[in-house]
Amino acid sequence: MKGYAICYVLFPILFVAFLVESAGAAEGEKDGVYIVYMGAATGSSKNDHAQLLSSVLKRRKNALVQSYVHGISGFAARLSATEAQSIAKTPGVVSVFRDPVYQLHTTRSWDFLKYGTDVVIDSSPNSDSNSSSGGYDSIIGILDTGISPESESFSGKDLGPIPSRWNGTCVDAHDFCNGKIIGARAYNSPDDDDDDDGLDNTPRDMIGHGTHVASTAAGTVVPDASYYGLATGTAKGGSPGSRIAMYRVCTRYGCHGSSILAAFSDAIKDGVDILSLSLGSPASFMLDYKEDPIAIGAFHAVENGITVVCSAGNDGPSEETVTNVAPWILTVAATTIDRKFESNVVLDGGKVIKGEAINFANIGTSPVHPLVYGKSAKKTDATESEARNCNPDSMDGEMIKGKIVLCDNDDDSYSFYDKEYEVQSLGGIGLVLVDDKMSGVASNYNEFPLTVISSKDAPGILSYLNSTKNPVATILPSTVVSQYKPAPTIAYFSSRGPSSLSRNILKPDIAAPGVDILAAWMANDTEVTLKGKESPKFNIISGTSMSCPHVSGMAAVVKSQYPSWSPSAIKSAIMSTASQINNMKAPITTELGAIATAYDYGAGEISTSGALQPGLVYETTTTDYLNFLCYHGYNTSTIEVISKDVPDGFTCPKESSVDLISNINYPSIAVFNLTGKQSKNITRTLTNVAGDGNSTYSLTIEAPSGLTITVSPTSLQFTKNSQRLSYQVIFTTTVPSLLKDVFGSIIWTNKKLKVRTPFVASSR
Ligand SMILES: *[C@@H]1O[C@H](CO)[C@@H](O)[C@H](O)[C@H]1NC(C)=O
Ligand SMILES: *[C@@H]1O[C@H](CO)[C@@H](O)[C@H](O)[C@H]1NC(C)=O
Ligand SMILES: *[C@@H]1O[C@H](CO)[C@@H](O)[C@H](O)[C@H]1NC(C)=O
Ligand SMILES: *[C@@H]1O[C@H](CO)[C@@H](O)[C@H](O)[C@H]1NC(C)=O
Ligand SMILES: *[C@@H]1O[C@H](CO)[C@@H](O)[C@H](O)[C@H]1NC(C)=O
Ligand SMILES: *[C@@H]1O[C@H](CO)[C@@H](O)[C@H](O)[C@H]1NC(C)=O
Ligand SMILES: *[C@@H]1O[C@H](CO)[C@@H](O)[C@H](O)[C@H]1NC(C)=O
Ligand SMILES: *[C@@H]1O[C@H](CO)[C@@H](O)[C@H](O)[C@H]1NC(C)=O
Repeated sequence: MKGYAICYVLFPILFVAFLVESAGAAEGEKDGVYIVYMGAATGSSKNDHAQLLSSVLKRRKNALVQSYVHGISGFAARLSATEAQSIAKTPGVVSVFRDPVYQLHTTRSWDFLKYGTDVVIDSSPNSDSNSSSGGYDSIIGILDTGISPESESFSGKDLGPIPSRWNGTCVDAHDFCNGKIIGARAYNSPDDDDDDDGLDNTPRDMIGHGTHVASTAAGTVVPDASYYGLATGTAKGGSPGSRIAMYRVCTRYGCHGSSILAAFSDAIKDGVDILSLSLGSPASFMLDYKEDPIAIGAFHAVENGITVVCSAGNDGPSEETVTNVAPWILTVAATTIDRKFESNVVLDGGKVIKGEAINFANIGTSPVHPLVYGKSAKKTDATESEARNCNPDSMDGEMIKGKIVLCDNDDDSYSFYDKEYEVQSLGGIGLVLVDDKMSGVASNYNEFPLTVISSKDAPGILSYLNSTKNPVATILPSTVVSQYKPAPTIAYFSSRGPSSLSRNILKPDIAAPGVDILAAWMANDTEVTLKGKESPKFNIISGTSMSCPHVSGMAAVVKSQYPSWSPSAIKSAIMSTASQINNMKAPITTELGAIATAYDYGAGEISTSGALQPGLVYETTTTDYLNFLCYHGYNTSTIEVISKDVPDGFTCPKESSVDLISNINYPSIAVFNLTGKQSKNITRTLTNVAGDGNSTYSLTIEAPSGLTITVSPTSLQFTKNSQRLSYQVIFTTTVPSLLKDVFGSIIWTNKKLKVRTPFVASSR
């Protein structure tokens, strides 16, 4: 239980830290670490930052925490609120804000769920061979908890020489660099209290998350990988030929924005091609773009030709929970895969009830253990609801001891790990949890016989309990069901659109496997080690943290094939070729069985090979992003500081409004405020990247009811490569007001290729 105990303490603290720091910024009272953001790098040095700082801080030394000079200009410093305010008035300063603390986007962060299976993108030319092609080796930078270089997944032995353009290194960890791992850096938490393990200065992974993510993105081929025999298969990253640069920005207490900005700045200088971030702010603390180090860092990375891929968050299934929503970021939702972990309940008489969990239960296959409902063990001072939910301190230990306990999970006051802990402390020998939310997502309970059944199966057990004097049962250890249908489905935890910051950018962008993912794990982790066994080399966990590196790996494959493509072209290629169909040839559904929408999965599930042959792409230019910032409400002078690529004479349009955001050249379309007879006229421009010059694309529209969509022209005739052609879309409602947001798509096809552009329209 050690691991769980850590978790109880760890993540509440992490969450509180975010609250405190954000509140501090609002009140403007406390001393603390502030980030001073000064836009694109202009050649100013750490010295310049120190001077600016000392002009404000007459007396204090050592206030500077980080200085950003590559790609990004700015610094982090310990300041009082008054000092922060006075620095904010300095010319050239875009924003000054409290250093936020982000969370890892694994469900483990929340309630220590752990899940499993080997999932790989198995399509790339790169992945056909184990070594690099001798062509362009993409470099994937990962901002995370560090890496365990010993893992077989990071063997560099079959890779060629390190790309000569690489300008990074392994800092304070020279033995980490091995041809596969070519960069490793660590950033001290500005919060001294965080360094309780004294290991802040090493890129070594002490949590496991970074190792898992890195191996999913670019792990080399490892045959016979499994978690104690579960999910056995060949483990392989999305782009096994790519190199890895790890930037350790997270500690046990979360990931500081000041460290994240430093990592972005280093990654720009080092020369990575892709950046992968499986972390973000909680949905309830959405930061504005110029006060969000991930949005800021990503902007400058993209300006420097780096594709930035981020997880969408684990705050689903409620609407408007998606995070990392800036238009220059590729935002990734999570889906299930076609593998399930079953741990079934057997009642007296042999009746079997299906359960989902990862456990190594060893209480036998015969139903001989007494079974009790939490409600029947109610303490006199507890409520019936508390007892049936098996909440702490609600059940009588005498009634639980030596029994398997049936628990509901329909009040949100406690996580199921709290319930597990309670049942175990009272001497319970097993737990059957009734829960529909977690359907499709099996959690890891190690040795404890815990399984999760659906509410439709609960009456079967309840009536057995009612009708039997001495009810008995057992819980079977997990078995793996493969080729499970339907798959993929949207993971219940995956954060959903629309974006609460900018509705007119459709988010998330894309979905990828994020449930029960088997990937490399750090060495010697006792938390996931079974009694008397060696610690596992692979582990099974879930989250949009796990889906993000699948897309980073795919982006690296596209970049290797087309080194000159811009981040937006790579993003467009991945989005326009995504799939909306599951393995039953039916539309992909949500955790509840409803047909998924773009708010669940953006353009759809990544397709394994399509992105290498998109035919046409949407190029989103710097000017598009600058216009976006105008429409979002920033003025011309602020934008001139933010970007290094402001075209001469650029000014924000006089009539900037968020409605105009729909018009930036994005690979999806979101139109809001569509009511009555009003129409919206949207323009998009496609670039021919098919390579064969002549190609004519014709139009198909998937229009929802309540909407008329007119596209002109209806045919796009490309005659040469790199040619750009535009089309207009006019959205008109046929009803006074759309009752809900509606979805559809615009599809351009030639004989071979299909370019799909999803849209959402809304009267809100
Ligand atoms: C890749 O590695 C696997 C396992 O080490 C090996 O069986 C296979 O032959 C290799 N393939 C190539 C193309 O080198
Ligand atoms: C390479 O790194 C050095 C410092 O380590 C830096 O000064 C230089 O600008 C970097 N080169 C590029 C092309 O960014
Ligand atoms: C079990 O019995 C209780 C009362 O004794 C009743 O409320 C409940 O509906 C019964 N449940 C089933 C599934 O028969
Ligand atoms: C894991 O533990 C073993 C045995 O104690 C030790 O030899 C090994 O160095 C450890 N590995 C790491 C990476 O700490
Ligand atoms: C632009 O916006 C910034 C920040 O809101 C403000 O301080 C500045 O005065 C504005 N500049 C102009 C020219 O309006
Ligand atoms: C809708 O229009 C109102 C009024 O013009 C504006 O304030 C709001 O931001 C618009 N919303 C969107 C999502 O475009
Ligand atoms: C839509 O906008 C485009 C580009 O601004 C323009 O050429 C076209 O005439 C407009 N169409 C309508 C019906 O307003
Ligand atoms: C494309 O088609 C045009 C006219 O149909 C023809 O003149 C041109 O040679 C073709 N180009 C290529 C690359 O096939």
